[in-house]
Amino acid sequence: MMNWTKDPELQVQHLTMRFGGLTAIGDLSFDAGRKQITALIGPNGAGKTTVFNCITGFYKPTEGMIKLRHPDGKEFLLERMDDFIITQKAKVARTFQNIRLFSGMTLLENLMVAQHNTLMRASGFTIGGIFGSGHFKRAENEAIEKCKYWLNKVNLTERADDAAGDLPYGAQRRLEIARAMCTNPRLLCLDEPAAGLNPRESDELNKLLLSIRDDHNMAILLIEHDMSVVMGISDHIVVLDYGRKIADGTPNEIKNDPAVIRAYLGVEEDENEVAVGSVKVADLVNEGLAVHANVPTRTVPKVSASPKKPVATKTVVKKPAAKKGGRK
Ligand SMILES: Nc1ncnc2c1ncn2[C@@H]1O[C@H](COP(=O)(O)OP(=O)(O)O)[C@@H](O)[C@H]1O
Ligand SMILES: [Mg+2]
Repeated sequence: MMNWTKDPELQVQHLTMRFGGLTAIGDLSFDAGRKQITALIGPNGAGKTTVFNCITGFYKPTEGMIKLRHPDGKEFLLERMDDFIITQKAKVARTFQNIRLFSGMTLLENLMVAQHNTLMRASGFTIGGIFGSGHFKRAENEAIEKCKYWLNKVNLTERADDAAGDLPYGAQRRLEIARAMCTNPRLLCLDEPAAGLNPRESDELNKLLLSIRDDHNMAILLIEHDMSVVMGISDHIVVLDYGRKIADGTPNEIKNDPAVIRAYLGVEEDENEVAVGSVKVADLVNEGLAVHANVPTRTVPKVSASPKKPVATKTVVKKPAAKKGGRK
């Protein structure tokens, strides 16, 4: 197994993100290897989603550097770029902890919209370009082919014309990944893609992610609570607790790391000996302790954000399970 530090796609260095008095991420450094699945794990509130928000330009970090290097050698300092440029030029795509699809649009439409930028470029940004040139027609055909490819890949071809909001939860999760892939990313960031999936669906998800890594040579950054997914498919795991990195290694190294077990069980300092000696992360997995619902929830007081960009609060998006969007 190639080491991620030798040829990283992404280098996060000394990343700090403060919201008022709260340090959501403190001096975090890690590398994510090319063609590797890097999992970012840790208890609720550990700062995982905030890391994604910094990488994708949704937040401007308080300090630190986030460097992305494409296989052709092109480098991007993401902390200095606006979010839409990060998507277009640095080619970072993400999915959200709470699904954000256009629920009233069909699956096909969702995937076409994802390719809007490519199509607009092909049109030369003029109406003449859209109607006049074969160039646009070719680009449009390619976009449709891409939709077909990804619909098939996520097993949703027969539902192509249904409203996205009418899909079962697990299928919406897969569609979100397909939509992200339609933007031709180099780095794919997935925020809890297995949340709410049944074991069969999460098994399918594993296969999909491995295929994206292997058949499309992608670097994947994965936030996930489901340890069967994390341990099953990750090449590299970074563990956060209270915004700090407490462990970094292969799944095998992480499984037996005392600090990780402490973080997951929430053991007090003087109880360490007992817990650490007798429990392994693998046991937690077996007992279902490390699975989403049972991970200890940290209640940290919310302080209003003061990022350089005026993103004051988290956008609250309802879970699709509760929201019956789309046509009925
Ligand atoms: N916009 C924000 N304003 C204030 N606090 C925030 C904001 N975004 C995240 N936080 C805080 O940062 C901490 C880490 O949150 P988050 O990154 O969502 O954790 P995780 O994804 O690991 O569960 C939490 O305490 C959260 O309340
Ligand atoms: Mg989160």
